[in-house]
Amino acid sequence: MPRIIIDTDPGVDDAIAILMALAAPSVEVVGCTVVGGNVSHARALRNARALLEFVGRPEIPVHRGSSRPLHGKFASARNFHSGSGLTRRLPEPSVKLPSQGAVDFLAGQLSENPGETTLVAIGPLTNLARLERQYPGSLARAASLVIMGGAVDSSGNIMPQAEFNFYCDPLAAHEVMAVGLPVTLVDLAACRQVAMSREMAFSLKSRTPLGRLALQIIQNWFKVDEQRENMLFYDQIAMAATICPDVMTTRQVSLDIEVEGPEAGVSKVTAGGGPAALADEVDAERLFTLTSQWLGWDAA
Ligand code: BDR
Ligand code: CA
Repeated sequence: MPRIIIDTDPGVDDAIAILMALAAPSVEVVGCTVVGGNVSHARALRNARALLEFVGRPEIPVHRGSSRPLHGKFASARNFHSGSGLTRRLPEPSVKLPSQGAVDFLAGQLSENPGETTLVAIGPLTNLARLERQYPGSLARAASLVIMGGAVDSSGNIMPQAEFNFYCDPLAAHEVMAVGLPVTLVDLAACRQVAMSREMAFSLKSRTPLGRLALQIIQNWFKVDEQRENMLFYDQIAMAATICPDVMTTRQVSLDIEVEGPEAGVSKVTAGGGPAALADEVDAERLFTLTSQWLGWDAA
């Protein structure tokens, strides 16, 4: 069974992506590494641990990653994710946090299982950039690398042209992409093709505990603001594409990310035919069908 490690900053959409991975029959989640971003690093760490314990998977280790980007401070996305980052209270986690940090965990997993572990990066890329700085060549030992980030030649969500994850740590995004690996990139243009409407969110129920928690998080997100009509799917698409690559088509490109100045975080195609498989058309219907199967969602 394919093994995955989720590098994450939960985060509402991160939480749903994690639940999708736990529910899908075809992958094994061997760990989560946490980075700051959507909420503070401490809160993201707590959320990842609380989520796994709450759904009965306390054996999946959560490793402490970077609380700061390579330079400066993370931006925050509390407006979207709510103060807690989950829209739903979960009991405090009780499992002891491993002493091994994210970078050492990733380096160990990748060298012990070369070519067998897929990295799904759904937060700022700081942990992965630090991994490559400390243990050069590590990323090349992943089976594949799927990233949610960037707004390639399209409008941004935190700056006019920059997407949140790449904007949070543009240097890390630049360094990871510059390794030149065959990454799969789900950018904002892809995410704008998949939205769950308020009506759909409240028309579903779930047969499973994982699916019920995912639905509660989504429904609470709508309840926070009566004006919200659609929830765009971000990290969920990266996770679905990891598990079932045929949820989207891709095109091969070379990319560069601006590291500083007013365009920091802006991602641009520099050439066609490059190593990155950039999401092109996402099959939203298939994505919802798969997600519903995994999470046991049915019409209420
Ligand atoms: C990305 O930034 C975060 O808000 C989401 O979790 C997602 O990873 C979308 O730009
Ligand atoms: Ca995220």
